[in-house]
Amino acid sequence: MEFLKNHSVPIRRSLLSVPADNRRALEKAPGLDCDGVIYDLEDSVSPEKKAEARDNLANAFSGQDQPQQERIVRINPLESGFAEDDLKLVARIMPDAVALPKVEHVSEIAVVADMLARFAPARPVALWAMIETPKGVLNAASIAADDKGPRCLVVGLNDLRKATGVLPQAGRAYLVPWLMQIMLAGRAHGVDVIDSVFNDFKDDTGFAAECVQGRAMGFSGKMLIHPAQIEMANRHFGPDPESIKEAEAIVALFERPEAQGLNVINLNGKMIERLHFEEAKTLLAQAAMIFARKKSQ
Ligand code: COA
Ligand code: MG
Repeated sequence: MEFLKNHSVPIRRSLLSVPADNRRALEKAPGLDCDGVIYDLEDSVSPEKKAEARDNLANAFSGQDQPQQERIVRINPLESGFAEDDLKLVARIMPDAVALPKVEHVSEIAVVADMLARFAPARPVALWAMIETPKGVLNAASIAADDKGPRCLVVGLNDLRKATGVLPQAGRAYLVPWLMQIMLAGRAHGVDVIDSVFNDFKDDTGFAAECVQGRAMGFSGKMLIHPAQIEMANRHFGPDPESIKEAEAIVALFERPEAQGLNVINLNGKMIERLHFEEAKTLLAQAAMIFARKKSQ
């Protein structure tokens, strides 16, 4: 399939958070099958360990030649007093992206972008925003809309629950409206959106249910806290064999010479439009990229 050569889509089924003060976890991360690693300098690292965590990260990055994963560094909030040193480290190690926590206004992204441009003028680093406060949810649309805004939104429900008093409940009934608001904000502006962590890493049933729900809501993937969650997130957020088969059938149908000029086709009693053709190509490109990565491991 010719189109696969030029079709590149981000794959963010599984983004594992790794506390940067945990050397054992840092050592393990590059060998895990997650699509991305969020190296955390914020909430999982105590104030006394911030400096040590930065040193650990510098060492961890210097030992990685050809990373298979997208590498994101989560810095501390601007007002914490740690962010400047975090960004100086970012300029040295040059990850794929910087995640700014608790973003409430797009101006915060601009401040980080300016600081980074000062510390690392040669090449820009993508910025991501964690949406995890009431104001962050309310302003998600303006945060995503800015053309210098974040490339990805990551939902943080632990902080949002703390700030609002919403209880952790299976099904997340009271959170769904906010989750969908964030989702819509991201999708309206071509910004990727990632679902929140699930704390109980021994509860496979609860985690699977939340992955199914997150996928159905349109999230690209899930932020994770433990390696045991990777396989399931990859399975639920990645293309499954049945949808790959259907996508292949759709592409084959639309690529026939007789389909030229047709916008709708009948596939076994189901209406298939050209937009499904585009979706099918994206899904096959994703599947091909996942397969190629597996082979190179
Ligand atoms: N990244 C990489 N490796 C991890 C990991 C992570 N997030 N969490 C656990 N591991 C490793 C452990 O080092 C251990 O490795 P080993 O057995 O080969 O030595 C293995 O996985 C099993 O870990 P386990 O004993 O089950 O858990 P733990 O007690 O070591 O850690 C947590 C449990 C919750 C403390 C840990 O998973 C963690 O810190 N998660 C991330 C927290 C975080 O980033 N929070 C902020 C975002 S919400
Ligand atoms: Mg948080």
